[in-house]
Amino acid sequence: MSNLDLNAFRQFEHDGWQQIAARYHAGFAAVTTQSITALLDAARVTQGTRVLDVACGPGYVASAATARGAVATGIDFSSEMVEEACGRHPGIDFREGDAEALPFLDSSFDAIVTNFGMLHFGRPEKALEEGHRVLRPGGRIAFTVWDTPDKARGFGIVLGAIQRNGNLNVPIAPGPPFFRFSDPEESRRVLTAAGFVNIAVTHITQTWLLPSPDALFDVMYHGSVRNAALLRAQKPDILEKIRDEIRAEVERMGNELPMPSVLASGTVANSGSDV
Ligand SMILES: C[S@@+](CC[C@H](N)C(=O)[O-])C[C@H]1O[C@@H](n2cnc3c(N)ncnc32)[C@H](O)[C@@H]1O
Repeated sequence: MSNLDLNAFRQFEHDGWQQIAARYHAGFAAVTTQSITALLDAARVTQGTRVLDVACGPGYVASAATARGAVATGIDFSSEMVEEACGRHPGIDFREGDAEALPFLDSSFDAIVTNFGMLHFGRPEKALEEGHRVLRPGGRIAFTVWDTPDKARGFGIVLGAIQRNGNLNVPIAPGPPFFRFSDPEESRRVLTAAGFVNIAVTHITQTWLLPSPDALFDVMYHGSVRNAALLRAQKPDILEKIRDEIRAEVERMGNELPMPSVLASGTVANSGSDV
């Protein structure tokens, strides 16, 4: 992975999120919000917990944490996303900032949560190191990522259609593998390497109920970053074939797709114990 231009990848992701902040909500909220309860439980977020929602997007997790009585802060590197979050959840502290260089002092939080952010970071290990730094001893981190495309069918259908009809090797800024942390062992390994203990990795059942057979293509094309770039790089006639195949597959599945995720969590060791 060391030969990747991670600055170019970061720029690519940042430009993408700046452009789709409003559309992301319309496309993905219905499915990304389904993991929030399990994510907050894994990070042990309750009344009074100081929790940081990293890569907060439109602020769903920070808002749910606030509803539990926690003191939530949200951070995202896209100013457009931060604006979206502030507009949707007035009264919550949302700020612009990078997961890989958190603008907070050491030991500032009791919990950190990242819902579908890790797969977008160029340097996810750095994000975990930063999480470890700003958590207090005994504090807990939890993140979700999508399960592999054979299980999270929204991705499997789109990537399969591109592979069969077009080309997955198109010139977009290369980044770390999108499904890297879908492997529970890899999630466990990076959490351990960042210094976390009491690591748990589980699966969450999620289902994407799409409003129409065309919705999957439309959401990926207009409301995502890497998958949209893959689609946009296909030739127009090929793109039509890809769209037809995606539509037919979604129709075959009754507009309802399994979209499980992987939830990983760990604790910052207390000095002398590993609570
Ligand atoms: C898939 S969205 C997840 C949004 C939200 N957490 C949710 O539950 O739907 C990914 C978010 O990560 C943000 N992001 C990507 N890379 C980031 C980075 N290095 N630092 C902070 N935010 C980042 C994007 O701007 C985007 O809002």
